[in-house]
Amino acid sequence: MRVNLKVAILCVCVGLTLITVSVWTRCGGELSPFSRRHTKQQPIHGDEGERGGSEGTGLEEIDCQINGDYSIPCRREGDEVYLPFSFIHKYFEVYGKLASYDGYERFEWSHSYSKVYYPKGKYDPRGVFLYFENYNVELRERVKCISAAEGVPVSIQWQVQGYYYPTQIAQFGLAHYSKNLTEPEPRSRVLEDGSGVTSDWQGRILRQDGRLVFNTSDGSQILLKSDYVLDFIMSVDLMLRPGDNSSMTFVLQNREKKEIWFLHYVCSSVHIYAKDHDIYHGMNCEDGVWASLTRDLIVDLQKGLSFQEIPKRKLSRSKFKIASILLEGSGWLDNLTLSSSQHLPQFFAAARWFVKHQDPDTGGWPISVKRRGTQGMKDLQPGWLSAMGQGHGISVLSRAYYLSGDSTYLEAALKALGPFHVDSRRTGAGVTAHFLGHLPWYEEYPTQPPSFVLNGFVYSLIGLYDLLTLGPPARDASMLFHQGMASLKKLLLLFDTGSGSNYDLRHFSIGCAPNIARWDYHATHVNQLLLLATIDPDPILSNTAHRWARYMMGKRAPHN
Ligand SMILES: *[C@@H]1O[C@H](CO)[C@@H](O)[C@H](O)[C@H]1NC(C)=O
Ligand SMILES: *[C@@H]1O[C@H](CO)[C@@H](O)[C@H](O)[C@H]1NC(C)=O
Ligand SMILES: *[C@@H]1O[C@H](CO)[C@@H](O)[C@H](O)[C@H]1NC(C)=O
Ligand SMILES: *[C@@H]1O[C@H](CO)[C@@H](O)[C@H](O)[C@H]1NC(C)=O
Repeated sequence: MRVNLKVAILCVCVGLTLITVSVWTRCGGELSPFSRRHTKQQPIHGDEGERGGSEGTGLEEIDCQINGDYSIPCRREGDEVYLPFSFIHKYFEVYGKLASYDGYERFEWSHSYSKVYYPKGKYDPRGVFLYFENYNVELRERVKCISAAEGVPVSIQWQVQGYYYPTQIAQFGLAHYSKNLTEPEPRSRVLEDGSGVTSDWQGRILRQDGRLVFNTSDGSQILLKSDYVLDFIMSVDLMLRPGDNSSMTFVLQNREKKEIWFLHYVCSSVHIYAKDHDIYHGMNCEDGVWASLTRDLIVDLQKGLSFQEIPKRKLSRSKFKIASILLEGSGWLDNLTLSSSQHLPQFFAAARWFVKHQDPDTGGWPISVKRRGTQGMKDLQPGWLSAMGQGHGISVLSRAYYLSGDSTYLEAALKALGPFHVDSRRTGAGVTAHFLGHLPWYEEYPTQPPSFVLNGFVYSLIGLYDLLTLGPPARDASMLFHQGMASLKKLLLLFDTGSGSNYDLRHFSIGCAPNIARWDYHATHVNQLLLLATIDPDPILSNTAHRWARYMMGKRAPHN
C-alpha cells in the first residue's frame, strides 16, 4: 500500500527553506548562511524590534563543526548555540513549520509527518476498511484514468501504457465502500429516464419503451443545454451503435476563465486519449448490450489534462459547470443522472472486476507487468501474484457478497485462497514463502529470495479475516489466517528498529542494510497492528503498536 505524501513533504520542505531563508536574512544581514566568517562578539542586527529585539540580544556567529566532516554557520548566545532548522530538518529528518493562531506565532516541531488513526471499536469486516474513507485513489498520479470499459483505475506505476493492478483496484473499491458508510447522503437528480422524467433535448430524438433513442445519421445534432453545477458524478445506461462513430459528450466550462472542454465517451478499446480540448474515454460497445457508466466528470477531465501534461494541480469542482450534453451517431439512453456521489456503483465495479479477471485455475489475479528486482533480487516476471492483491481482492469480494447476497462473489473470494497454499517460488501460482524454511509468510512481492514485506502481509491477513467471518464455508480462510497470525507474532519484533520499523526483512534474506519504513509506511504498520489488536488480545500486538506509535513522537527504545 502506498500513501501519497510526497507532496505534503515537499510543501513542508519548501516552507522550511523559506522560513530559514527569511530568518537568516533578518538575523544575518548581508551574511550568506554558508559563509565561513569567523567573528567574535559581533551583534547581529535584524529589522528594528520586529523579532523581539534581535538587536542587542547578544547573538553572535559561530561555526558548527559537524562530526569533524564539514561546518555550518550557527548562532551563539552565551553558552547556548542555535543551529539552523533547515540543517536539523535534513540531518535528523524531522519536520517543523511556523504556525500562527490564538494571536501569536510559534514554531511547531514534529518528529514524523504521518498520522495514527486509533480504532473506535472492534474491527467490523462489514464496516469501513481501516481509514480508507480518506483515500482518493483516482486522483493518485500513478492512476492513468478510470477505465470507462471496466469502471476501475488503470495504473501506470511500472508501465506507461497502463495496466490493471489488483491492489489499486481493490483500494479504489474499498475507499468507495468506506465513503458510502461515512459520508453524508448524496444529492441526486435524474435528467432523463425515457418516460417519467424527460429533458428538453434539441434535435431528433424519440422515446420508446421507456428509453431515449437517437440517430444523427442525417447530419443533425442532438444537444441538451444545461447549467448544472456542483454535482459531477454522472451515471447513465447507454447502448451506443459501434459502427456509427457514436458518442456521448459532456461540455464542461470553467466558469471563471470561460474555457471549454469536451469530455467524450466513445466506443474504443483505448482507455484514454486527448487532443487539446477534446478528451476521449473508451468504453465497451456491443450491439444489444447496455453499458452502465458511473463517471466522476471532474476526475475524467483532470486525467485528460494530465495525460497531455497540462496543469497537474487539483481542479476545483466549484469552478466548473456542465454547459451542455451532446449525442452523436446512434444508440439508446436511459437513467441519465447527476449526483454529488455514487460510491456503491464504483465499489461494485471493482468487485465485478475481481470476478471477471480471476484466473480460473489458480484463483489468482495475475499482474501483467514485470517488476524490477532491487539489490540482487530477481525481477518479478509478468503474471506474478501478490498476497496483498489476493487479500485486498478478498476484502472487496467479502463485502460485495455481504451487501448483495450474490454467491458469485463468495465463490470468487474462496477461490482466491488457492495461491496461499502454493510456494511463492512458483511464479503466477503461489504467494507463500517460509521464514527459515518453516514460518509461512504471505508475500506482497513473491521475490527470490523472499522479501517478507510487513504491510502487504498484514493486509492479506485482514482479507482472510474478512472472509472467515462470513461463516462455515470459509474454514480454509480461518486456517490460513491463524497460521499467518502465528508467524506474525513470532516475527513482528524483527521489524522493530528501536526508533521506527523496517519495511521488510531484506537485510535478513539478502544480507544488506535494513530497508527502513518511511513514516507513512511506519504509520500504516501501527494502524494495522491497532486493528489486529481489536480482534486478538495477544499483548504483543497492542504493546508493539503503542511503542511504535511513540517512535513517531521521537521516543526511542532505551540503550544499555
Ligand atoms: C450508501 O449506499 C446506500 C445503498 O445504495 C445508499 O442508499 C446511500 O445513499 C449511500 N450513501 C452514501 C453516502 O453514499
Ligand atoms: C439511423 O438512421 C438511418 C437513416 O437515416 C438508418 O439507416 C439507420 O439504420 C438508423 N440507425 C439506427 C440504429 O436506427
Ligand atoms: C467515423 O469517423 C471517422 C473519422 O472522423 C471517419 O473517417 C469515418 O467516416 C466515420 N464513420 C462513420 C460511419 O461515420
Ligand atoms: C433504468 O433504471 C430502472 C430503474 O432502476 C431499471 O429498471 C432499468 O432497467 C434501467 N434501464 C436500463 C437500460 O438499464
